[in-house]
Amino acid sequence: MFFRCGAFSRTSKKGLRLTKPVLETMSPETPPKGRLPKHVAIIMDGNGRWAKNRLLPREAGHVKGISAVRKVVRAARELGVQYLTLYTFSTENWRRPESEVRHLMGLFRRYCRADVQKLHGHNVRVRFIGARSGIAPDIAELIEHAETLTANNTALNLAFAFNYGSREELAEGMRALARKAAAGQLDPESITPEMVGGSLQSAGIPDADLVIRSGGERRLSNFLLWQAAYAEFVFTDKLWPDFGEADLEAALAEYAGRERRFGGVSAEKPQGRTSLAETALRTLASEVFGSD
Ligand code: FPP
Repeated sequence: MFFRCGAFSRTSKKGLRLTKPVLETMSPETPPKGRLPKHVAIIMDGNGRWAKNRLLPREAGHVKGISAVRKVVRAARELGVQYLTLYTFSTENWRRPESEVRHLMGLFRRYCRADVQKLHGHNVRVRFIGARSGIAPDIAELIEHAETLTANNTALNLAFAFNYGSREELAEGMRALARKAAAGQLDPESITPEMVGGSLQSAGIPDADLVIRSGGERRLSNFLLWQAAYAEFVFTDKLWPDFGEADLEAALAEYAGRERRFGGVSAEKPQGRTSLAETALRTLASEVFGSD
């Protein structure tokens, strides 16, 4: 119901376009607002295979992948997702053939030049996580410009993980904390998980609630290792260039049906135990430990 009311009111007030798949998939089962993930993170995989299936060069898959990025960003904003993080280029992607890396860098430049102003017009805040060293100076400038231009926007927090590797992000955060400790500004014993999270490039972005991976693989590939500690995962075989609004909605619906326990137990579980259950528990314990 949330999507039905929320999407329509936002659409009519701001004149945003509501996509056909969004309308088609609205049903009484559509998740209520409380079950909408605050932070959705996406591993956009399958561009190369999409191109290969069409006898096209891999680069064609990356170009088509930009269309999917645009669709998903628009849908996320319209559906009320607050944070969206897209895995755009990993530190490991430098190992690809030089021509493909050059093409991906060129695409990133073109995307920034073509879309940042439009995103700003839609009140989207754009951030980048990943190492700033090792990227071309003009790309670093595009990143800084996008971040400065959109810093006060509130409709959607869009983060591009670019030149990103979670282990390096963690190592960098640890180095920063260690430097403070060595300078006597921080007691190592006082370091909390919150301080570790705050030392990362993603500081200020809440933990990922939902990680989606397209392209059929089921791994995290050095993406948000810390931030996805309690994330729900949705994997789809769909190749990234084919991923669209309806796929995002299907993932959100799957998330809404999951029970998140964060290491605890289900709230509905009965607290009391029958004497039969107590006996069963004692019998099981003596089987496992013997009668001690
Ligand atoms: C993985 O597909 C995807 C990438 C390495 C990069 C993702 C890039 C885009 C979606 C386009 C650029 C986006 C922006 C915002 C500039 P793959 O090549 O590993 O596919 P494969 O597993 O089928 O080979």
